[in-house]
Formats: sequence, structure tokens, C-alpha cells
Amino acid sequence: MRIGVLTSGGDSPGMNAAIRAVVRAGLSYGDQVFGIFDGYKGLVEGKIQEFTRKDVSEILNRGGTILGTARLPEFAYEQVRALAVKQLQRHDIDALICIGGDGTYTGALRLSEMGIKCIGIPGTIDNDIASSDFTIGFSTALNTACDAIDRLRDTSSSHQRCSIIEVMGRRCPDLALYSGICCGAEYIVTSQTGLDKEKLLDDLKKNRLQGRRHAIVVISENITDVYTLAQEVEDYTGYECRATILGYIQRGGTPTPEDRLLASRLGAYAVDLFHQNISGVAVGIHQNSLHYVSLKDALEMTSDRDVSLEELLTKIQ
Ligand code: F6P
Repeated sequence: MRIGVLTSGGDSPGMNAAIRAVVRAGLSYGDQVFGIFDGYKGLVEGKIQEFTRKDVSEILNRGGTILGTARLPEFAYEQVRALAVKQLQRHDIDALICIGGDGTYTGALRLSEMGIKCIGIPGTIDNDIASSDFTIGFSTALNTACDAIDRLRDTSSSHQRCSIIEVMGRRCPDLALYSGICCGAEYIVTSQTGLDKEKLLDDLKKNRLQGRRHAIVVISENITDVYTLAQEVEDYTGYECRATILGYIQRGGTPTPEDRLLASRLGAYAVDLFHQNISGVAVGIHQNSLHYVSLKDALEMTSDRDVSLEELLTKIQ
């Protein structure tokens, strides 16, 4: 086979491990594997290069993506996708592996509808692909967020402050929920909990009156302006309050062993599936087993996997 591989959307630690697994698994079957640079944008522009085993040496432990990535909203237009199909035909590429989040999966689904054999691999720090219990990069981003929150707790406690920490995740609560639990946050605000500002302010005021030295509030991005919220906490509760937006620091860094392992398993599995003549699917992990669902189903599924964690919070927070 002649297999292409690209990364698209926001980068995530572990994408390189997935690229490496695709290339090496492909070569083990006697396939030729082509790296496509800069996501769908690079595909449209024909930035395609054959990869050898050596081209993916020493990348297993590197964050980011050696292929580069991009967001290309214009890929929604059929004329733009037709250019991508032409490039694949020009290089005789039979099959394409697309590593990324739901935008990447949408692109892969549309290409599948145009006759290209595609497989999606979940690569995003957001953990917002419901067809996989975990996405490549989530473990590393969670580690980074926890490390940052632990540090902020030290200084908040020393100064008797409230610390509001905004984490990424787009619309998905997981980064906030998991990091909040792991760091013993007093409050976790996500798209699922919503922000009950009056209750938050009242509770923080009570905390303060009870003599608690600090409070940690972990909040998902896109909920509210955290700097304004910090000012409101100061005005109402008596706590000094600081807001910190962790931002892109969560997207970089050395992938954790969990992300390297997940990426290696999923990359090799995607190649196996092509050799079983299976395509138009997204691979993922469920209860530690590899599986696949159609790209369409992967995009339509919603997740209920955090319910048990929310229950846990009611007992330990
Ligand atoms: O999807 C990954 C992610 O980092 C989200 O958490 C965040 O909302 C978004 O990408 C930021 O995108 P950009 O890199 O385009 O600013």
C-alpha cells in the first residue's frame, strides 16, 4: 500500500509517537508511507514526502508534530477538497491516516465520501472525541495542568489568596474536571456545571470567614472572563484573588508514557485496519481495548464517561 499520514488542528503531545507508529507499522507490511506536512492545507498544496524508518527516529519523546499542523476552514468546500484528492492521486496514495480532533475527523469523513480510504486517530489535548476513552495528548496536558496548579496552590496558600486557574479543553470539561480532582480544587467550573456566580462568591466568602488560607478554582476556558471574576471575588469575599490562564503551555512538552503508548498502539492499529480492508473509521481505546467506529458515528457520539467522576466529586470535594 501507499499510505499518507497527516496531523491537523491543534497539536498535541504524542502526535509524533503516532506518526512513528504509522510509518514503522507500514514499513513492516512492506508499504510505502508518505508524510503530509501542515495538515489538510499542506495536502492541498502537495507538501508530501516519502518517509523512511530513519525519518521518524528520535521523535517518540518529542512534543508537537514533526509534520506540522494547520487549521483550514476552507476544507469545507468541495472544490478545495478536490485539490487534495488530486494530490493524493498524483502520488498514488491509496489510503490516508488523519491524526487530530473533530475538525480533522470531519475532513476525513468528507474525503471518504469522495472515495479516499481514510482512518482517523484521536489526537487532541481536549479529550473531546467520544469514541475513545482517551485522546493522544490529554494525559500530557493533564500532567502539565496539575503541575501548574500545584505550584499555584503553594503561592496561594502562602499569601492566603484565592487562585482562579483557567485550563483549555474547548467545550469539553475533562481537563478542568480531571485536573481539579487531582489537585484538590475547592471549585471546578465546566461547561457541564455552568458558573453559578452567586453561589461561588457566597461559598468563597464562607471559606474565608472559616479561616481557610486559600481557595483553588479550576475553570474551563470559554466560560467567563477570569480576570473580571477574580476582581469580583476580591470585592465580595475578602480574599485577595489572582487569575491565571494556563493557555498554550498545556499543548507542549514531552509526552507522558501513557500518551506514547496510546499513540503507538493506535498508529499501528490504523495500519492493521487498512490491511484488513477497513477504512472510513476512527480508531480509539475503550476499556483498554482498541476498537473502531465509523467516522460518522465518531462525530455524532456524545460522552457520558465523566458521570462517575462527578459523583466522586460530591463525596470528596
Ligand atoms: O483543540 C485544542 C485546543 O488547544 C483547545 O483546547 C483550544 O480551545 C484551541 O485548541 C485553541 O486553538 P488555536 O490553537 O487555534 O488558538
